[in-house]
Amino acid sequence: MLLVLFPDTFLSLHLLLLLLMQGVSRAIKITKLEVPKSVAVGDSGVLKCEWVDEGDHVYTLKWYQGIDEFYRWTPLETPEIKTFPIEHFTVDPRASRRGHVFIQNVTVNAGGSYRCEVSGEAPYFKTSFGTGYMTVVDLPDSVPSINTKDREPYKLHQEVVITCTSRDAQPAPTLSFYLNQQPWEGEEQVVVNSSSGLQTAIKTIRIEVLPSLAEGGVLQVKCVAAHPDLYWESNERNFSVDLPEFYHHRPPSSASQGVLPYSGETSSCCCSLVLITLTVFTAGVLLR
Ligand SMILES: *[C@@H]1O[C@H](CO)[C@@H](O)[C@H](O)[C@H]1NC(C)=O
Ligand SMILES: *[C@@H]1O[C@H](CO)[C@@H](O)[C@H](O)[C@H]1NC(C)=O
Ligand SMILES: *[C@@H]1O[C@H](CO)[C@@H](O)[C@H](O)[C@H]1NC(C)=O
Repeated sequence: MLLVLFPDTFLSLHLLLLLLMQGVSRAIKITKLEVPKSVAVGDSGVLKCEWVDEGDHVYTLKWYQGIDEFYRWTPLETPEIKTFPIEHFTVDPRASRRGHVFIQNVTVNAGGSYRCEVSGEAPYFKTSFGTGYMTVVDLPDSVPSINTKDREPYKLHQEVVITCTSRDAQPAPTLSFYLNQQPWEGEEQVVVNSSSGLQTAIKTIRIEVLPSLAEGGVLQVKCVAAHPDLYWESNERNFSVDLPEFYHHRPPSSASQGVLPYSGETSSCCCSLVLITLTVFTAGVLLR
């Protein structure tokens, strides 16, 4: 009825619908949004925002950290790129173009969400956006340190406690111990300094000084502090072990942590050559 009576109305309605549909189909779609996963304090990085324009053109592209805009690219304006001061890093406009932004000198507070917003042209200014997340790592100022309260030289079968400490990072690195190049499990603890907010990681191992750990009278301890992709520092320390005489002449073996039939008194009170030979022989057999 209505259509028959008001053909003009129908026509304009049709046009409007067509326009609306065009508005819907003409869009800009973000195809890639890349934010560095983790960056060290003071370092730089590149943020990437790419798109395809499905019949529409970019009117403006904006980057935000949290709610703060720090970069705007408007291709039809001069200059095309504007940057806005932000507290947690600086933007190098000369190294940035379109959706790619070069940020420098990041602080701990530069961590968080980064949003790229692309708007199409008038009259719709259709907008798409994407968000990425960046973590900023405050690395330790010094290499990890290896410490013990037990005095050297260690004695065989003595129990010793050794710690590895990596100070003042955020977040703390992961620590790994190696004894004579073999990985060794320990207990890791993280202590937070309440005034600086920085974390200190401490890893502790308790070991019995077995002969297999003290070849040549040396216990080699290595500690590695690491952040994936960002940081790797190690430290090494050799602890001397007071080995009874016959261990020094024994050829190196690949024996694992076994207990040897040795007691301190045997060598001090026994002068019998036969008994010593027997002890060495037994030790050799057991070590195999
Ligand atoms: C980085 O920050 C430090 C301290 O805030 C400043 O002295 C230095 O000039 C900055 N470097 C760049 C490249 O912005
Ligand atoms: C905690 O950090 C402050 C500096 O912010 C430093 O003076 C203090 O020695 C630190 N405390 C410990 C236990 O490391
Ligand atoms: C520990 O001793 C081994 C050999 O016994 C040596 O190669 C290494 O350099 C020493 N490491 C340190 C830190 O003294």
